[in-house]
Amino acid sequence: MEAIMRSFFLSFAKSKFANKLAKKFGHRFGASKFVAGETLHQAIETVSRLNMDGRVVTLDHLGEFVLNEHDANQSAQMVLQTLDAIEESGVQSHVSLKLTSLGLDISKDVCIAHMHAILRRAKDYEIFVRIDMEDYSHCQVTLDIYKELRAHYDNFGVVIQAYLYRTKEDMERLNDYQANLRLVKGAYKESHEVAFPDKQDVDANFLSIIKTHLLNGNYTAIATQDDKIIQATKDFVETNNIAGDQFEFQMLFGICDDLQKQLVEQGYKVRVYVPFGVDWFGYFMRRLAERPANVWFVLKNLFK
Ligand code: FDA
Repeated sequence: MEAIMRSFFLSFAKSKFANKLAKKFGHRFGASKFVAGETLHQAIETVSRLNMDGRVVTLDHLGEFVLNEHDANQSAQMVLQTLDAIEESGVQSHVSLKLTSLGLDISKDVCIAHMHAILRRAKDYEIFVRIDMEDYSHCQVTLDIYKELRAHYDNFGVVIQAYLYRTKEDMERLNDYQANLRLVKGAYKESHEVAFPDKQDVDANFLSIIKTHLLNGNYTAIATQDDKIIQATKDFVETNNIAGDQFEFQMLFGICDDLQKQLVEQGYKVRVYVPFGVDWFGYFMRRLAERPANVWFVLKNLFK
C-alpha cells in the first residue's frame, strides 16, 4: 500500500495541471508545514528564527522543470535577490537551487549563463550555493555542469543520491574535484533499471557513500532524517577522528524539529533546508510520498 501511495504522489508531483492549480491556491492543504512562506521576506524571518537556536540554513526558492526562457530568467533573478537578502540581513544561510528552474530543459547554455551570474554574486558575498539533484534524466547533465563550473568557482557543491546504481562511480569521479557533496537517499520516482528498488539496499549504499566521502577527506553534508543513519555517522566520525568542520547534518524544514535541536545541543552543525515561494506543489508531493502519514495533515487542513 505504501509503495502504491509513494508512486502516486511522485507521479502527481510532475502533473503540470496540478502544479498550475496549486499556485492559485497558495499554501493550503498543510503545505505551510514544509514551506516557509510565499515571499523572500517570510523566508528570511524563518532563517533568523532558526539561526537564533543555532541552526544554519540553505534557502531554496521553489521552482523546477521550467520550460520557457522568461520563467528561467525570473527564477535566476529570484536566486540573485535571495543572495542579496542573505547578505543584507546578515543571516547564516546558503542557497540551494535546481538547474531545471534555470532553464536546463530549454538549453544547457542558458542554464550555465544563469549559473555564472549566480556563482559570481555568491562568491562576492562568500555565500555557498548547492545544486540539488533532480530526477535520473537530469543526473548526467547536472554532473557535467558541476564539473564545467568547478574550473571557475569553488563556492558551490552538488548532491548525490544513494538510490542510484551509478552513484559509487560518480563519487569516484567527483573525488578528483574534492567535491563538497550533499548525500541523500533520493526523492524521485525511478525505474528498477537505474535505482535500487529495496529500501535496505538504498540505506546500505547511503551509509557506504557517507563513509567513503568522509574518509577521502571531503566536506560531507549528510542530509537525512533517518536516526539510524545519523547515529551510524556519529559513531563513524568518532572512531575515525573526523573533524567536526568536515561534515554537517542537513534536514528539511518542518521535519524532525526536535532531532534537529538535539543535534545542535550535542555540538553538531545542523543545516535546515528551507523552501519558499508559490511553486510548492512538486516539493510538497515528494514530502507526502516519503511519509504517507503526512497525508493526515492534508486531510485535516482540507476540513479546516
Ligand atoms: P527515510 O525516508 O528512511 O526517513 C527516515 C525517517 O525520517 C522517517 O521514519 C520519518 O521519521 C522521517 N521522515 C522522512 N521523511 C519525512 C517526511 N516527508 N515527513 C515526515 N517525516 C519524515 N532528494 C533528492 O533527490 N535530491 C536532492 O537534492 C535532495 N535534497 C535534500 C536536502 C535535504 C536537506 C534533505 C534532508 C533531503 C533532501 N532530499 C533530496 C530528499 C531525500 O532524498 C529523501 O527523500 C528524504 O530526506 C527522506 O529520506 P530520509 O533520508 O529522511 O530517510
